[in-house]
Amino acid sequence: MAYREMRDYLAVLEQHGLLRRVTREVDRSWEIACLAKWMYQALPVEQRFGLFFQNVKGSTIPVVTAALGASPGSVALALQCGPDEINQTVVAALRNPIKPRLSGDGACHEVELLGSSANLSKLPIVTWTPGKDRGPYITTIVITRDHDTAVQNMGVYRTMVRDDHSVVVNLSPGRQGTYNARTWTDRGKKAPIAWVIASEPAIHLATVANLPAGKDEMEFAGGLKGEPIELVKCKTIDLHVPANTEIVIEGEIAPGEMEDEGPFGEFAGVMGPVEKRPIARLKAITHRRNPLYYGYTSQMPPSESTTIQSLVNAGVILQTMRDHVGDRGVQDVHIDQTFGGVLAHAIVAITPQMPGHGKRVGRTIADITPVKRVTVVDADVDIRDPSHVDWALNSRFSPERDTVIIDDVYVPLQIDPSVRDARGNVTQGSKLVLDATQKIDSGPLSLPPNKIMMEALAIWKECGLPVFEIPKRAKLRIERS
Ligand SMILES: Cc1cc2nc3c(=O)[nH]c(=O)nc-3n(C[C@H](O)[C@H](O)[C@H](O)COP(=O)(O)O)c2cc1C
Repeated sequence: MAYREMRDYLAVLEQHGLLRRVTREVDRSWEIACLAKWMYQALPVEQRFGLFFQNVKGSTIPVVTAALGASPGSVALALQCGPDEINQTVVAALRNPIKPRLSGDGACHEVELLGSSANLSKLPIVTWTPGKDRGPYITTIVITRDHDTAVQNMGVYRTMVRDDHSVVVNLSPGRQGTYNARTWTDRGKKAPIAWVIASEPAIHLATVANLPAGKDEMEFAGGLKGEPIELVKCKTIDLHVPANTEIVIEGEIAPGEMEDEGPFGEFAGVMGPVEKRPIARLKAITHRRNPLYYGYTSQMPPSESTTIQSLVNAGVILQTMRDHVGDRGVQDVHIDQTFGGVLAHAIVAITPQMPGHGKRVGRTIADITPVKRVTVVDADVDIRDPSHVDWALNSRFSPERDTVIIDDVYVPLQIDPSVRDARGNVTQGSKLVLDATQKIDSGPLSLPPNKIMMEALAIWKECGLPVFEIPKRAKLRIERS
């Protein structure tokens, strides 16, 4: 059965030992963030878990973080698939989007705080880089709408608390939320905007997909869930939000109202610069009775942000290459989760169809996605195993022949701190493609034939030597020996 709300998912996560409750009182101005940072910085990926802070100082509302993106295991549970099936689940949902359904009422409207009662001090909003961020930030789904087409968009745009009734939203250039807001403010109108806090897991994951302009991620979320997402109309603005959300904040951006946003700990691992960003003024906070609060953990990678952005966008790139570029040679895509989703390193497995195919695939992905580095390998390499990818780079890649550098690709400083030159000027940035596919048949692998390796495996077991699961890297190699 599909999850209907965040609570269903948290219960399943807990059953799998992937959610830990913290019962001690915690201070949201530093303790929540620091504990989450220890979890990501110290634990290997297979030991990470979501954190449920039951007792938050000065608030009756518990705070959850890292539950969606502790590891591929938690993302797989959120998508109700196996950890090896995340790409195929994302691809299937993109191929079969499901339109949302409008409902008369929803749990998110059980309590309505309208006008001056909509006070942010009632929410346990977390400071994510204590001692360095300008203040507490809301890190969740943001919904906006195109004035002309009425199509909504979802994205995560960090939002700085300005005072009890207003915020500054990091709507950065090029983002669809930014475009949507301007379709209103450029006409002198107030742009509606809503923050969706703790909703169905499919919605949270769909939000971070880099989909083409004009595509509503809510339909992709429906595809991931396998049924329509139920929406309700906001109380004070003309937007639709998921009915089963724990907390919704409704607001408006007035034309020309901007203020400094930041510094804020960025997902690239350094503090982001201060920029002028739009102010939004609150019109309502609605919530369930006894709600939960959710904030994504970002900042120094690896983080929840890098984990979910990498895993979801690998599937998006795979589907784009197969269905939109029409390249049947592309078999699989992985994005390095230690860094993150948009700016990171994509490793692509292909079955080359012609000379130069590897470079062409790499160049196309570098051009049409924000990924900074693309390594292309043959389909006999486990793209999720860095040692196997490195083997391909050392044995099938000749730097002078197989490297492509793509220059003058605009990358904002906060996304990639390396685009600053020695004088401190921000440059246009560049991308790297490494074609590590085999150009000529390099002959048989230096392993004994598969048949006798499998016989030896039986002897290994007979001898009582330590039991192991055959790594994919070894399987791929031994199968073709
Ligand atoms: C925790 C977290 C925080 C993020 N903060 C921002 C942000 O402040 N500004 C931004 O442009 N993108 C941010 N992103 C990335 C975007 O949400 C993501 O790329 C999304 O697909 C953008 O949607 P859009 O292409 O529809 O605008 C963040 C992602 C996560 C997971």
